[in-house]
Amino acid sequence: MENKNLKSLNTFAIDCVAKEFVEFNSQEDFEKIDKVYKESQRVHILAGGSNTIFLNKEYQGTIIKIENKGKKIISDEVDSVAVEVSAGENWAEFVRWACLNGYSGLENLAAIPGQVGASPVQNIGAYGMQVADRILWVEVHNMKTSDNYRIMNADCEFDYRFSRWKTSHKEELIYKVVFLLDKIFQPKLDYAAIKSYLEENKVNPITPIKMCDIVTKIRDSKLPNPEILPNAGSFFKNPTISQEQFEDLKQRFPQIVSFSQQDTIKLSAAWLIEQCGFKGERYNCVGMHAKQALVMVNYGGATGKDVLEMANLVKEKVQEKFGVMLEIEAHLIG
Ligand code: EPU
Repeated sequence: MENKNLKSLNTFAIDCVAKEFVEFNSQEDFEKIDKVYKESQRVHILAGGSNTIFLNKEYQGTIIKIENKGKKIISDEVDSVAVEVSAGENWAEFVRWACLNGYSGLENLAAIPGQVGASPVQNIGAYGMQVADRILWVEVHNMKTSDNYRIMNADCEFDYRFSRWKTSHKEELIYKVVFLLDKIFQPKLDYAAIKSYLEENKVNPITPIKMCDIVTKIRDSKLPNPEILPNAGSFFKNPTISQEQFEDLKQRFPQIVSFSQQDTIKLSAAWLIEQCGFKGERYNCVGMHAKQALVMVNYGGATGKDVLEMANLVKEKVQEKFGVMLEIEAHLIG
C-alpha cells in the first residue's frame, strides 16, 4: 500500500504518512518481506507504535507492520511453562491471559501498551520486573539472508531498556518470543507504589491476576491513557551516575530520588525534570505530563520539531542544574 497515514498506528499520534506500507501476517509472508527489504531504500518495523515517535510528516521508506497472531504452550512442567507467543499479539492481553491461567512472572508488566515482539527490543520493565528475566529465546527472520534463527537470552545483550535490537540488527524481524513462566506464584512486592497500595487495600490472598489488576490501577492513576492524551510512555531513561557524583548531588539536593545498583546509582529522571519546573508545563503542542514528569504528551497536532525542541529544553535545563545528561528512551524515527 502507498501513502499510508500512521497517525492511528503510533500512540504519540504524530501525523505521518509512510511512502510504502506492508503487513506481516504469518511466516508465509517472509518472501514478500525479503523482497520489500531488498527493494526499499529504508525499512522500519512497526509493532504497537507505543515507543515510536515519527519526526517528519512523511516516512520515505517502507513500514512493515507486525500482525502475526497466536500463542502455544511448548513445554509444561510441574512448576513452570514455556509459552511461544507471536510478535503481533497485544502485550497487555497476553499478560492478562497468563495471569488468568495462573502463570506468573510478568504480572508487574501488566497494562503496558504495545506488542509482544517489541517487548525484548527495549527490554520493557516496570515495578521491579523486566521482560529479559522471563525470555528464553527470540525467533527472528533475517530479511537480508532469508534465514530463520533463534537468539538465546544470553545473546540478546539485555540491559536497562536495551537489547541487541535497540541500535542494530535491524535486518532481524522478530516473529516469536518464548517466555518461561512460573506455576508457583512468588509476588514481587518491593516496589514502593505496590507496597503502599497493599497497605491501603486488603488483598488476600494475592494471586497473579490480582497483581495484574493492582498494577493496572497504579498505572492508570499516574500514566496518561494514550487514547485520551497521546504519549509514548517514558520519554527519557533514568540516568545512571557514579557514586562520587551522587554524593556531591546529595549534598546539594538532599531530596534527590535515587535507586542504588551494584556500584552505580540510578536517578529518577522524573524527579530531575520536575525540579526543573517542567511537570505539567506545555511547549507548543507538547508538554511533560502533570502526573508523571517523565512522560511527554501530545496536546494535539505535535510535530517532530515540537518534540525535539521540548526534549532539548528539558535536557539543557537538567544538565545545567544537576550536571546530568538525560538520554531519550523513545524511538525517534526520522
Ligand atoms: N517522581 C517524581 N516526579 C514525577 C514522577 C515520579 O519526582 O513526576 C519520583 C517519585 O519519587 C517516584 C519515582 O520518581 O517514586 C519513580 O517514579 P515511577 O515509579 O513513576 O517510575 P519512573 O522511574 O519514573 C520507570 C519506568 C516506567 C515504569 C515505572 C514503574 C523508565 C524509563 N521508566 O519510571 O516505564 O512504568 O518505572 O516501574 O525506566 C516506560 O518505560 O515507558 C515506562 C512507563
